[in-house]
Amino acid sequence: MPYECILTETDGAVGIITLNRPDALNAFNRKLMDELTEAVKAFEADDAIGCMVLTGSEKAFAAGADIKEMASKDYIEVFKEDFITGNWEEVARARKPVIAAVNGYALGGGCELALMCDFIIAGDTAKFGQPEISIGAMPGAGGTQRLARFIGKSKAMEMCLTGRMMDAEEAERCGLVSRIVPKSELREEAIRVAKQIAGFSRPIAMLTKESVNRAYETTLTEGVRFERRVFHSVFAFEDQKEGMAAFAEKRKPVFKNR
Ligand code: CAA
Repeated sequence: MPYECILTETDGAVGIITLNRPDALNAFNRKLMDELTEAVKAFEADDAIGCMVLTGSEKAFAAGADIKEMASKDYIEVFKEDFITGNWEEVARARKPVIAAVNGYALGGGCELALMCDFIIAGDTAKFGQPEISIGAMPGAGGTQRLARFIGKSKAMEMCLTGRMMDAEEAERCGLVSRIVPKSELREEAIRVAKQIAGFSRPIAMLTKESVNRAYETTLTEGVRFERRVFHSVFAFEDQKEGMAAFAEKRKPVFKNR
């Protein structure tokens, strides 16, 4: 069934999800959130896909939760539906790598959604912010937690308490985004990087992702131990034998994803 608020397509082994509610700058209404969850699950389950790209338009990655839709909600309602990320952390839970390609506004839940991805490539006009405080709310999709971990307390606190937007250069300086590209090249570049990732051994890419994520969930000692065990497990893969043999034989490896 075609989606109403997102577009999905594939390019080789890359699954591309484009947020597509242009009239509301891709603000997240219920429909968009449900469709996003569906699409991520579908690409997760598709063996032909090795990496995902999540993107929006040139004007907006996403301007956050739909303010008009949520304005009249009461406490019981938001509690019962576990608003806003109840069914939505699917992106953060994805085991395959997910790249956020951000052009224009990534505000509120839009910034939080980008933070749920594995890394962010930004177009040079990208703007990140947590403006919820200016509408009598606060971040509710992980913004206070992920921002503080990724860019440190001082900047996270300032962004959440003032609603100030950060441009792409500042976002790159403080490590919020991995790098900046001209806005017209963003989509193409994100897909190129995703193809590169999808071309490596898929299970090893998934283990690598899991290991980096462990850094944000545990102590250094436990994280390093986890990494070593996972590293050892890599030696059980045919892809490790193939990758190292190909290096020695000066040829390109052919990974079989096992
Ligand atoms: N919800 C609903 N509609 C939104 C929206 C949002 N978050 N953001 C923009 N829109 C709508 C506007 O209402 C407008 O619709 P109409 O044409 O029907 O009036 C349309 O999108 C275009 O927006 P603007 O005319 O405002 O465009 P602009 O270029 O002048 O400004 C903007 C762009 C600075 C992003 C401005 O739209 C804005 O401030 N948006 C709200 C951003 C925000 O506060 N986000 C946080 C939401 S709360 C949240 O996300 C909670 C959470 O943690 C999960």
